[in-house]
Amino acid sequence: MTETSGIVMNSVSYSIGGRTILRNFDLQLMPGVNRTILGVSGVGKTTILKLILGLIRPDSGTISIDGTAISSLSESQLTLARKHIAIVFQGGALFDSMTVGENVGYRLIEEGLLPADKIEAIVKEKLGFVGLEKTIDLYPAELSGGMKKRVAIARALAADPRYIFFDEPTTGLDPIGVYNIQQLMLRLQEQGKTTLMVTHDMPTAFAVSDRFSFIHNAELVFDGVKDALESSEIPAVREFFAPGRSSLFTYIEEQVEV
Ligand SMILES: Nc1ncnc2c1ncn2[C@@H]1O[C@H](COP(=O)(O)OP(=O)(O)OP(=O)(O)O)[C@@H](O)[C@H]1O
Ligand SMILES: [Mg+2]
Repeated sequence: MTETSGIVMNSVSYSIGGRTILRNFDLQLMPGVNRTILGVSGVGKTTILKLILGLIRPDSGTISIDGTAISSLSESQLTLARKHIAIVFQGGALFDSMTVGENVGYRLIEEGLLPADKIEAIVKEKLGFVGLEKTIDLYPAELSGGMKKRVAIARALAADPRYIFFDEPTTGLDPIGVYNIQQLMLRLQEQGKTTLMVTHDMPTAFAVSDRFSFIHNAELVFDGVKDALESSEIPAVREFFAPGRSSLFTYIEEQVEV
């Protein structure tokens, strides 16, 4: 395989607390082909991102990053493989006790490979990319929700990753905030980054994605492009786009069970 052969999950199964979250799940993230993972709340979308990052391990199946199976890696090798991937967590997950600049530079400071002035230049450049260079000395509590998400994106970019994961990046934002995130994602793609997003926000999914994976009851039920998704006859996909009364009651029952 070549250096940039993408991220591949092959027949991955994962259970937690006696519940099967993923069963024989396949996913391909090829360089330049931006993907969105869809599915109802609690189905396992964030779990997929955590599995790829090696934060949790699958029960069976393989996950490879650019040709290297992550199960074969030691913790330090995994850290190296992860350098190609950055994640913008659901909610941003900024460190409240650090300034915006310290948040963005955190990974580089921890690594200790670059001199402080070089790190500062990278931090300023990444904050400039998201239009927030003036916030460098502020604390997260002083920012709006949309600004926090943009800082989280700047932080993800600091280590110059090949792949960027976005977990519900537009949730809770107003239409301008949503538009800003979409534009940032498109600009990153133009710069050669490949994005993998989890979202319920279909306008954003359609604006920034080439392919879609739909997960239902632990299984991949759809993998394809927008037109095929919109015209899909798969019941779970149809329900997702046009929920009827029956699905509403099923949904409520499932939530109550949990
Ligand atoms: N540590 C854990 N212990 C037990 N169950 C867990 C744990 N972590 C996740 N789960 C369960 O795994 C399932 C999948 O969680 P996950 O966070 O991947 O869902 P999701 O699709 O990202 O949901 P959402 O759209 O609400 O973010 C959920 O039902 C959750 O309750
Ligand atoms: Mg989630």
